[in-house]
This record gives sequence, structure tokens and C-alpha cells, in this order.
Amino acid sequence: MTEHRDTKIEYVNGQNGHEQNGHEQNGQGPHGKGTNGQNGYHKIAAEAPAPADPAANAADENKRYAQIIGWGYHVPAKIITNKDLEQIVDTTDEWIRSRTGIEERHVAADPQETTATLGIAAARKALAVADVHPSKIDLVICATSSPEHIFPATASIIQDAIGATNAGAFDLSAACSGFVYALSMARGHILAGDAEYVLVIGAETLSRIVDWTDRNTCVLFGDGAGAVLVAASNVPGGIMAVELGSDGSGADLLTVPAGGSAHPASLETVGSGSHYIKMDGKAVFRFATRVMAQATTRVLARSGLTIDDVDLIVPHQANIRIIQNSVLNQLKIPQDKVWINLQRYGNTSTASIPIALCEAIEAGKVQPGNNLVFVGFGGGLTWGACAIKWSVPIGKESASWWKNYRRQATYQAAAARSMWKRAVRWVYEVWPADPENVPVHQPENPAAPAPEPTKQN
Ligand code: ACO
Repeated sequence: MTEHRDTKIEYVNGQNGHEQNGHEQNGQGPHGKGTNGQNGYHKIAAEAPAPADPAANAADENKRYAQIIGWGYHVPAKIITNKDLEQIVDTTDEWIRSRTGIEERHVAADPQETTATLGIAAARKALAVADVHPSKIDLVICATSSPEHIFPATASIIQDAIGATNAGAFDLSAACSGFVYALSMARGHILAGDAEYVLVIGAETLSRIVDWTDRNTCVLFGDGAGAVLVAASNVPGGIMAVELGSDGSGADLLTVPAGGSAHPASLETVGSGSHYIKMDGKAVFRFATRVMAQATTRVLARSGLTIDDVDLIVPHQANIRIIQNSVLNQLKIPQDKVWINLQRYGNTSTASIPIALCEAIEAGKVQPGNNLVFVGFGGGLTWGACAIKWSVPIGKESASWWKNYRRQATYQAAAARSMWKRAVRWVYEVWPADPENVPVHQPENPAAPAPEPTKQN
């Protein structure tokens, strides 16, 4: 999977990078060989405070870290307000605001908009911020509760569309905790040395699996996608600790009952609405308030931090009262250290944390040296938290016409490549090769070795 080992992130200590975000691919860093024997580091012009002890700095040269170096989000244009919902189900704007905090949500009204298209748009923005070519990506993970299909993975569709030609891809199912789980996977692959760049996406079109006649659920959810690019680095910090949990005894509290092996699709499952989200709201509420606080406390302990060290919590955006009861009241974290945007998006499940992160970055709430916590919960039941020491400068996205042009050309080439491969497969289908007459490669120069077999899908 990782043949392109020419990128190793370099700790440019104290250097104010004009390569903002430090994301120019330089093939080989100025220091040439890394101390771990790999050539060339992808360069982060780190503005995080350097370790005070030079010995500690030297020791870190040998360590790998998983840094978020790119971020982006995308939501559908169509907005449904609480007032709009009053026309659809027996509810009121006042009830929804006071019981959930939600005022409006974005919904994929265009049938052409799907979980993959939202994820692709978010992924492209994250790659633009990172200024990393898609061919550098080793792994694409798409956390989603509303995938395009049971299989193939939505991640594979995104991988194809962005031209991540050297990447593996898979979907991750952990409901609304999925983004934190996926970050944990990315960190694991990077720290193990299996990947240099992992693209993590949370993408949802929950509006497609919501029962628009059920006021208990349809007022809560929204559509959208967020993505981050996680890169191997020797800059200390990044995703420092992860806490994941699950309690499958609560599997039936939040579920799409049918469409899997337990209840395959049938006229009966369709008729009974069993392909829609079903939820015991009160039970999920109780569970959520408990685990959000617990998971945050545990992940901070793992990373050697206290509540006072936290600069910003980015919680899963399900219900303002859950955030108030857990993060604000139990953990006593002041509201200005908690990013809340559910009033404009509703619960976008796996996309809620990355969308909130992007908005927090845009608002200047994330700076190098900050300690962040992402914490989520969801169906499964599952929960997860991760502690992040932010080490990457927040620069403006490169506006160079040449880079924008090159990026667009890359995506057009990816689309052309995909069409070409489909066309070749179609030709094989309508004109199957005679298995008795498979052409055998005959080298022009019999002494020359036959070409390496290429990896074909
Ligand atoms: N409009 C008006 N009334 C409503 C609505 C609505 N949209 N929805 C429910 N009600 C009614 C109920 O029918 C009930 O009426 P009743 O007393 O006559 O039976 C009343 O309001 C109170 O219902 P409660 O369930 O007590 O309302 P509650 O205050 O618990 O809020 C809610 C419900 C918002 C669902 C809350 O329980 C909650 O947020 N739970 C957690 C949901 C969640 O976070 N899910 C995460 C999903 S993540 C994932 O993995 C996809």
C-alpha cells in the first residue's frame, strides 16, 4: 500500500513557514534522510512551541506522530428550518429549539447528492488545505451511517473520484462515534508505519433513512460531510490518545432494523418502515450524557492532561442539552471552550465533529499548541474520544491559480481514468476473451525480462 516512502514530515523548529500549513510536497526534505532511515519528510512549518529540552527534541526525531494537516467540509445547499418541519409533522419550532437546540439542518434535496458526493467535496477541500496530491494517500476511511450501499464501500467511490490511486479504502460503521473511531484507525496505521497519509471522512445523507412522518427522529438529523487528512510526522503532538467504547446490549436503542442479514429487505420490512432510523430517545440521552463526560476524562488522563489544559472540546452535535449536561455541567468546562454548531446543522452523525472542527478553525479557535478533545457517542451503542495537540499552522488555503488548476486537472483526470476503466471492463463484458486463446506476452527481445504484472481491479 505504501510504496511512496518519499515523504516524511519534518519538524521545522520555530520556523515561520511561508509554505503555510507546510504542505508543499517536497519529495525529500532538506535534511535528506530521516533518523529512522526513511528519506525526505513532508514538511510542517510547525508553530507549536518547541520542546524546552533539546534532548527531548532529539529523542522525538525518532518518533512518529499523526498530525491533522488538512480539513474541509461540505453541506448541501437546501436548508430545512423548524418552521418548515411544522408543515410536515406535528411539531413546533419552540419544541425543537428548547428540547434539542436545533434551528435548521441541511438536507440533500438533489437526488444526485449522495453520501459519496458530499464526502468527495469535503475530501477535496481537505486536500487543498493540506496541498497534498491525492496519489500520496495510503488509505481512505469513510465513517458513515448512511453509506451509498451495503457494499461497495463509499470510501472506494471517494477514492476513485479524488484519484487516490495508491490508496486502500474502507467504510467504518460505528454510528455517530464513527469519525473518532476512524481517526483512531488513521493514527494506528500511521504510528505503525503502514501509512504516511490517511484521509478520514465523516459523511452522511441521513435524510434518506429518516422517517419523515416520525417527529421523534426527523427533527433531529441533517446531511453533510467533513474530512481531515492525517499525516505521519515527527513534529511532537497530533492525535495523542484515543478512548473507544461499546455496549452492544443497547444495540436496539438506536438502529435501522432492516436491510442487513437479520432482517433482509422484503415487502414486509419496507411496509413496516423498518429501513428507517428507530430510536429510544430518552435512553440514548441518558447514555450519552454519561459516556461523553467519562470518555473525555479518560482520554485526558491517557494523554497526561487535565480539564484545565483543554483549549477546545469539539463534541458530537446531537442535542444541546446533552452537551450541557455532560461537557458543561459534569466536566465544568466553560462554554467558550466548547464548539457548538448544532443549531445550524442538526445531528449529522459522523460528519458532526469534522464540520464543527472546520468551523472552529475558521473562527480562529484552533491555534498551534492548543489541546483539543473530540468526543462522540452513537448507535451500537458506541462512544469515543481523542485528545489532540494541535501542531500545524492555520494558514490560508493556497490561492495560486496554478495549484488550483493542477488540482482541478487531477480530478478531471481521475474522472477520465475511472470512465476509461469502466469502458475497458464493458468491452471485456460484451466481447469476452476466448479462454482457449489468451494472448501470451512475447518479448521483442527474448533476453529481456517480461514486464512486471500490474495490479488491476
Ligand atoms: N415535536 C413535538 N413533540 C415531540 C417531538 C417533536 N418533534 N418529539 C417528541 N415529542 C413529544 C413526545 O411524543 C413526548 O410526548 P408525550 O409526553 O405526550 O409522550 C414529549 O414530546 C416528550 O418526549 P421526550 O422523549 O420526553 O422528549 P425529550 O425531552 O427526551 O427529547 C429527544 C427527545 C430530543 C429525542 C432527546 O431524548 C434526545 O435528544 N435523545 C438523544 C438522541 C440522540 O442524541 N441520538 C443520537 C443519535 S446518534 C447516532 O448514532 C445516529
